[in-house]
Amino acid sequence: MEHELADIRAAAIAAIQAADSVDAIEEIRIRYLGRKGSLTLLLRSLGNIPAEQRAAAGKRANEFKNEIESALEQKKNELTSTAARDLLRAQWIDVTLDCATATQREDLGRLHPISQIQYEIEDIFASMGFEILDGPEVETDYYNFEALNMPRHHPARDMQDTFWTEDGNLLRTHTSAIQIRGMEKVSPPFRIVGPGRVFRYESTDASHENTFYQVEGMMVDRDINVAHLIFVMKQLLKEIFQREAVVRLRPGYFPFVEPGFELDIQCLICNGAGCSVCRQSGWVELLPCGLVHPNVLRMGGIDPKEWSGFAFGLGLNRLVMMKYGINDIRHFLSGDIRFLRQF
Ligand code: FA5
Repeated sequence: MEHELADIRAAAIAAIQAADSVDAIEEIRIRYLGRKGSLTLLLRSLGNIPAEQRAAAGKRANEFKNEIESALEQKKNELTSTAARDLLRAQWIDVTLDCATATQREDLGRLHPISQIQYEIEDIFASMGFEILDGPEVETDYYNFEALNMPRHHPARDMQDTFWTEDGNLLRTHTSAIQIRGMEKVSPPFRIVGPGRVFRYESTDASHENTFYQVEGMMVDRDINVAHLIFVMKQLLKEIFQREAVVRLRPGYFPFVEPGFELDIQCLICNGAGCSVCRQSGWVELLPCGLVHPNVLRMGGIDPKEWSGFAFGLGLNRLVMMKYGINDIRHFLSGDIRFLRQF
């Protein structure tokens, strides 16, 4: 019995040491310790040996059983962690590697030039303490016209040909609607900018689209005057064009500002000589602006006796055209990949 036990132990330990998988370990456990395993059968046969040898043999058999069990456990743990490590090694990826070759990267797409400039403008204004706000593209008459000092039947509504929806709403004709929404959200003093897409029911040419982008701006504080407005506008254009742009300010009429101005930039396509973009005038209408009309402040719940402000509505498409020398506004929505790849 002693020899048999020692042989089983030695064979089991050798098999465990040679095992190379968790499955093999399980097989060995069944072979020696399972219901019909050789050590189990031997333990069961203890009743057949003489009583004086039984206790010692039983003790020894249990010691071997425990020894084999712990060897099995230890080997199983070893093999499990090796398997996990091997799996990790097999699945390892270098996250610092370039995800695509140069040619593949070409096809990954990029930001539209209008989005690029929009984000740049947001950064410029954020650095001047402006908060960026948003508004819906489908607007109500109230936000697009009425609260901007253009009550129903006001002739100035005709300045912006409008797409109306069947339920009496409209596609916003300008981002000035964001001024009104802004005044509902923040209280003075405040500085806000609201970029967005706007729509007008008009025919297109080299400088007119029916769908284009604007950035609205509004600053309300005590004693705001035209000098503040001109400073911020010039600062913006300087940062965008990275040089002093030649600008001119002329009177402009918008019911929501008083006084109102048109800030024109000397055409950077023809340097003022005259071309199709500036309609041979040498100037491009870029930045209408003015001091916020007291009625508009009142509509926004702001007392015009205490607060004053300026507002502007920058035409984003035309700005991008000036920056990159693009001679036709219709390129932006053409979906022509050759055009878009240049930015
Ligand atoms: C407005 O939309 C006013 N809401 C701007 C404003 C805001 C004035 C705050 C005062 C205070 P206007 O219709 O001129 O104004 O349009 C503003 C700018 O949008 C223009 O200077 C021009 O750059 C651009 N724009 C206007 N119509 C078109 C068009 N059809 N296609 C492309 N850009 C356009």
